[in-house]
Amino acid sequence: MSAPAGSGAPGAPVNVREFEHAARAVLDPVHGDYFAGGAQDEVTVRANESAFASLRLVPRVLRGAGEPSLATRALGAEASMPVMIAPTAFHRLAHPEAERATARAAARAGVVMIAAMLSTVAIEDIAAEARKAATDPCLWFQLYPQPDLGFTRALVQRAEAAGCRALVVTADSPALGRAERNDRNDFHDLPPGMRCENLRELRGGEPGHVRQVVLSPGISWRHVEWLRETTALPIVIKGVLHPADAVLAAERGVDGIVVSNHGGRQLDTTPATIAQLPRITGAVDGRLPVYLDGGVRRGTDVVKALALGADAVAVGRPVVWGLAVDGEHGVTAVLEMFRRELANALTLCGCASPGAVTRDLVLREGD
Ligand code: FNR
Repeated sequence: MSAPAGSGAPGAPVNVREFEHAARAVLDPVHGDYFAGGAQDEVTVRANESAFASLRLVPRVLRGAGEPSLATRALGAEASMPVMIAPTAFHRLAHPEAERATARAAARAGVVMIAAMLSTVAIEDIAAEARKAATDPCLWFQLYPQPDLGFTRALVQRAEAAGCRALVVTADSPALGRAERNDRNDFHDLPPGMRCENLRELRGGEPGHVRQVVLSPGISWRHVEWLRETTALPIVIKGVLHPADAVLAAERGVDGIVVSNHGGRQLDTTPATIAQLPRITGAVDGRLPVYLDGGVRRGTDVVKALALGADAVAVGRPVVWGLAVDGEHGVTAVLEMFRRELANALTLCGCASPGAVTRDLVLREGD
């Protein structure tokens, strides 16, 4: 990179897609494939983005909305915009400062960061970095509940003690989706010297080794109930795609759901999240907050998700691309791109805030 990311200087990425290209240029190609890839034919990876493109925004005019305010609330806490950082594993593959850099950028930007259980920096250190950048950072912790409930409880308690404000239970992973790029590259483990720092206490195998993690087909609502009794933190279920599961989540009193197909990395050929969102928001009918991730690359994508009933979106790969290109500054640049684009899209739609976005502002091409 000849110019710092987001600097506006010639050569700097001007949109999230250009960050992807810049990241691919600096990442080890094997790691670049790990971040970009999805399961099998990557049908869902492509669908997540193309489904956004097939929706059209229908702006209102002459509403005198003024400069939009992007501020919102996420599970009761203030956030500067309805764009969160989705949990993604192994940030150290992207940048030596790893999740430390991501945490500072998120805290400084005032956005929610969902820290991944499979981070390469311990949750305590992620939280400490976030607090260097903001007095009251909003950190949530993503969990793959482990059959070793003693370990799972201890990890949840570590997240609580570190100041995490919610637990995000990833429910779409009763097994690992098969990313053929990783098979082709024989990439199945972190390079020497890198560890999943939250896993050091997990029994079996080498401490901190990603192969220790068990993605169990036995995961069920019983685990969610157990977590309810184990922690006072709000519980968000990530990876909901079927409206019936969204209804169960509402009935069982969880605190939120993330409509997600894991960025197309688990079951291939699932629907694009934005295509499935209206069925989910229709089914839950406001009983709990609904978040969405998968393919969000533009401020206009955020507006479309809001119009179809999402309370906020989360972005996964774009954050990794920013991190790879320029560490903390790169993540900041990506988040500020979303902020600028969202403000611009809201203004052009005649909306004064995310809450002013209504269903009628979006239609499917051809409708
Ligand atoms: C992920 N995702 C993910 N989700 C999760 O719950 N735990 C995890 O450890 C990971 N790890 C992970 C690694 C990488 C490299 C990617 C790209 C994704 C899924 C993530 O939270 C989110 O659902 C998607 O990334 C959203 O799609 P986009 O924004 O990447 O298109």
